[in-house]
Amino acid sequence: MNQDFLIRKMTGRDLDEIMQIELQSFTLPWSRQSYENELNNRYATYIVADYEGEVAAYGGMWVVVEEAHITNVAVAPRYRRQGMGSRLLQALLNIARQKRVCRVYLEVRASNLAAMRLYSAQGFIPTGVRRQYYSDNDEDAIVMMKQLQPS
Ligand SMILES: CC(C)(COP(=O)(O)OP(=O)(O)OC[C@H]1O[C@@H](n2cnc3c(N)ncnc32)[C@H](O)[C@@H]1OP(=O)(O)O)[C@@H](O)C(=O)NCCC(=O)NCCS
Repeated sequence: MNQDFLIRKMTGRDLDEIMQIELQSFTLPWSRQSYENELNNRYATYIVADYEGEVAAYGGMWVVVEEAHITNVAVAPRYRRQGMGSRLLQALLNIARQKRVCRVYLEVRASNLAAMRLYSAQGFIPTGVRRQYYSDNDEDAIVMMKQLQPS
């Protein structure tokens, strides 16, 4: 299956599927309007993993000068544990390298071990904690960072 999906830019036509996955994936989902704003944000890059015309995963980041901040990564439930999250993250990191980014940051819920393992396996290390970052349950965010070598 990994060979058959296509990584491409997110477009407005993807948003119906993305909102479904978003609601299945996050306790504080982004709104459709937030994604529409992001698609018009010149500092933002959003991509999808398209599997036979279906959005299987998506993610995005902001790039400002030499730093990138990954805003979200989500895989549709039926495609999880098949390497899709890893491949999507690698694609974001490759784009960041092309944009000459040196450091990539992200935040992850302290209880989200699946995501932390995914990020650790791709070379992210914990660098800090944002206390009570998530408003739904006051959970801490772990800040993770990966240093990039120029491509
Ligand atoms: C986190 C998420 C993106 C992982 O996507 P995925 O496609 O399942 O990840 P991969 O198959 O590439 O897994 C890579 C590694 O991550 C870890 N991992 C992924 N899911 C895991 C789980 N449910 N439990 C434990 N470890 C997990 C494993 O170490 C895995 O390697 P392995 O399969 O060889 O053991 C996906 O579960 C998801 O969309 N979750 C909801 C949204 C979310 O939490 N996003 C991250 C916000 S910071």
